[in-house]
Amino acid sequence: MEPLLRAAADEHRLARAVADLGLDRVAEVVVEELAVRCDPVPVDGAAHLAFELTSGGERACRLLTVDRDGLTSKRDGWQAAPVRITHDAVDLLRGLYGPGTDRRTSRRVTTCAELNAPNPAPGGLTAIVRERQRLAVAVQAVVAACQRHPVDLGGLSTRFGSDKWADLHWYTQHYERHFARFRNAPVRVLEIGIGGYDAPDQGGASLRMWQRYFPAGLVLGLDIVPKPGVRGPRIATAVGDQGDPGLLDDLGRRFGPFDIVIDDGSHLNAHVRASFTALFPHVRPGGLYVVEDLQTAYWPGYGGTAGPVAGPGTSVGLLKQLVDGLHHREWVPPAAAPGPSYADRHAVALTVYHNLAFVEKGVNSEEGAPDFIDRGWSAPPA
Ligand SMILES: C[S@@+](CC[C@H](N)C(=O)[O-])C[C@H]1O[C@@H](n2cnc3c(N)ncnc32)[C@H](O)[C@@H]1O
Repeated sequence: MEPLLRAAADEHRLARAVADLGLDRVAEVVVEELAVRCDPVPVDGAAHLAFELTSGGERACRLLTVDRDGLTSKRDGWQAAPVRITHDAVDLLRGLYGPGTDRRTSRRVTTCAELNAPNPAPGGLTAIVRERQRLAVAVQAVVAACQRHPVDLGGLSTRFGSDKWADLHWYTQHYERHFARFRNAPVRVLEIGIGGYDAPDQGGASLRMWQRYFPAGLVLGLDIVPKPGVRGPRIATAVGDQGDPGLLDDLGRRFGPFDIVIDDGSHLNAHVRASFTALFPHVRPGGLYVVEDLQTAYWPGYGGTAGPVAGPGTSVGLLKQLVDGLHHREWVPPAAAPGPSYADRHAVALTVYHNLAFVEKGVNSEEGAPDFIDRGWSAPPA
């Protein structure tokens, strides 16, 4: 899977990756991906379609079944399907994971002889037309799953059952604003907090949302509870406590650097701060570190501060510190040894919404005010 994602921007690399992986394995990856992307299909009963991938004279086929639950696939039985969708493998992968393709010529849809029968009897024609219309709904769903579409993140959130939109929170509007530039890139996303709390087979709503939102993204979830039930193409899970810096550093070394890290875990203020310190170094330059649920900065039970001013040990205190660090070259006196922190040198922008913050990673390298400007100057008394 990963070699395909990495090669997807370049047709020649993609062709080599297909040859290395083997067309049969590529077909397996593709139908798993289509199962994720295919919405429930409003078709009467179930529709069966043959799906054929071709590459350099080879072919690999699967039987797709689409119905009101979505799409499933099997290796056998495709020969008897009434409709066949054929795709060039490289072209399809460019559409799924790469910059997209406008070469519709590589896709062919062929209907079986029975549904193309010449001069059918009048009653037979009605039945044929009805069956063709029924199958067309299924074909459209598969063809649509093979292409890029704009997505409504709020819609995905409610569909998969995350509380990030129209429930406890109104976050997805902000995510769309900040994540749009990453959408079609082969991003690595880490989210702390898979959901479902103590239930190993529950959770994964937001991981599925990111999986759909980032069509070429790899999505890793971390939770203190093992989540063997949360699986899928381009989704991985890890077990661990976000308050353990060693574990987070190890995760960053193994799976990073990340384009995006989202903290939606315990929301304990000490954990939020420890996780940021451990994981911010594993965010790629230009990437984002997101902290959800800043309200706990004001809730003493979570290590927050009662009253209107969140203290230095809180998540909001961390953000205020980052604003100070962003200006470390202006400090009087200059930063004491050992100098500005890693975050001071690499947090280059902050956007804070109600309960949600985005920290952008980069190199905070702009010079401070020149020396000829007297930093010791005082305004004359009014
Ligand atoms: C709010 S839920 C996450 C919801 C999910 N991100 C979504 O939007 O669908 C919080 C999750 O954090 C996990 N969690 C709690 N404490 C944690 C810790 N110390 N380290 C890692 N995960 C933790 C919980 O088990 C729970 O599943």
